[in-house]
Amino acid sequence: MHKPWSIIAASALAARAAAPPGDEYCGSKTPAFFLAGDSTTAYDGGWGDGFLAPLISPAWGVNIGQSGATTVSYIRGGNWSDITTHLRDNADEYECYVTISFGHNDQKAENNVTFETYQTNLINFANEVKALGGTPLLTSSLTRRAIPAGADQDNNATDSLHDQRLAAIAAAAATNSTVIDLNAASLAYVDAIGKTAAWAYNWNGTDTTHLNPRGTVVFGRMVADLVVRAEPCLGRWFTPNETLSYAIWNGLAA
Ligand SMILES: *[C@@H]1O[C@H](CO)[C@@H](O)[C@H](O)[C@H]1NC(C)=O
Ligand SMILES: *[C@@H]1O[C@H](CO)[C@@H](O)[C@H](O)[C@H]1NC(C)=O
Ligand SMILES: *[C@@H]1O[C@H](CO)[C@@H](O)[C@H](O)[C@H]1NC(C)=O
Ligand SMILES: *[C@@H]1O[C@H](CO)[C@@H](O)[C@H](O)[C@H]1NC(C)=O
Ligand SMILES: *[C@@H]1O[C@H](CO)[C@@H](O)[C@H](O)[C@H]1NC(C)=O
Ligand SMILES: *[C@@H]1O[C@H](CO)[C@@H](O)[C@H](O)[C@H]1NC(C)=O
Repeated sequence: MHKPWSIIAASALAARAAAPPGDEYCGSKTPAFFLAGDSTTAYDGGWGDGFLAPLISPAWGVNIGQSGATTVSYIRGGNWSDITTHLRDNADEYECYVTISFGHNDQKAENNVTFETYQTNLINFANEVKALGGTPLLTSSLTRRAIPAGADQDNNATDSLHDQRLAAIAAAAATNSTVIDLNAASLAYVDAIGKTAAWAYNWNGTDTTHLNPRGTVVFGRMVADLVVRAEPCLGRWFTPNETLSYAIWNGLAA
């Protein structure tokens, strides 16, 4: 079953309250973020650009989310080498973070990716980032906003990426790296705000997987808040929006 909303909200608020003041640095280098993922991270439909938008220069990032990607096609198509090239080129000068968020396509039978391969690829991605001097952020999949018909189901979004969330958590544990539990947070949020509000973020009227520009802002902020919760010293590098964060972590439509 879903993690109760109150637990997630309470821990989020506690983490925010405990965060150090805004002038803490992560090491001496400016952060750079490279986003590895599928369409739910990518430009036009994913959270990635909404995550990068509040970054304060000279912090910067690149959205390398690729629509349709599985962990296998991402490697085969050369997108993962794009990530490692960015790490090689920048790890000396910048504190490099790589968000790793896959699952929506890996889980489709027609893509021929076994769960074991998916799990192994997440672990390999995290280890490669570390070997190149970066910090992996294993980001569990953005929830789909598939909600069953029936008035009593409006706050019961389908937990369709449950196992993929567990794989991201397991990969973080296996590699001693940070998990950004976007799946739990986004599912809890969608359940809190309900179907009408959740579907206001649909990429189009019927696409309950991808995000329109407003959804990109909201879920990008959710990821930014989760990243800062995990690495509080990064807080100074994101322009805050307390109104939006308050809505997100209190289950209010934004
Ligand atoms: C992923 O790689 C393909 C080439 O295989 C390229 O066409 C595409 O632009 C890449 N995606 C991103 C987001 O860079
Ligand atoms: C999956 O395997 C089937 C059968 O071998 C093949 O036709 C299909 O092209 C494969 N799909 C991908 C995405 O590799
Ligand atoms: C929520 O939906 C699931 C199926 O996704 C169903 O098994 C469960 O009974 C529903 N919960 C409620 C409270 O209706
Ligand atoms: C795990 O990573 C932390 C830093 O994130 C480090 O302090 C710790 O020593 C690491 N533990 C192991 C077993 O590598
Ligand atoms: C919405 O987008 C999906 C693809 O994501 C497409 O299949 C569907 O036809 C679109 N619907 C409308 C009303 O444009
Ligand atoms: C902050 O978020 C609120 C609520 O989503 C939005 O209306 C406002 O424009 C945002 N402020 C800035 C400075 O982006």
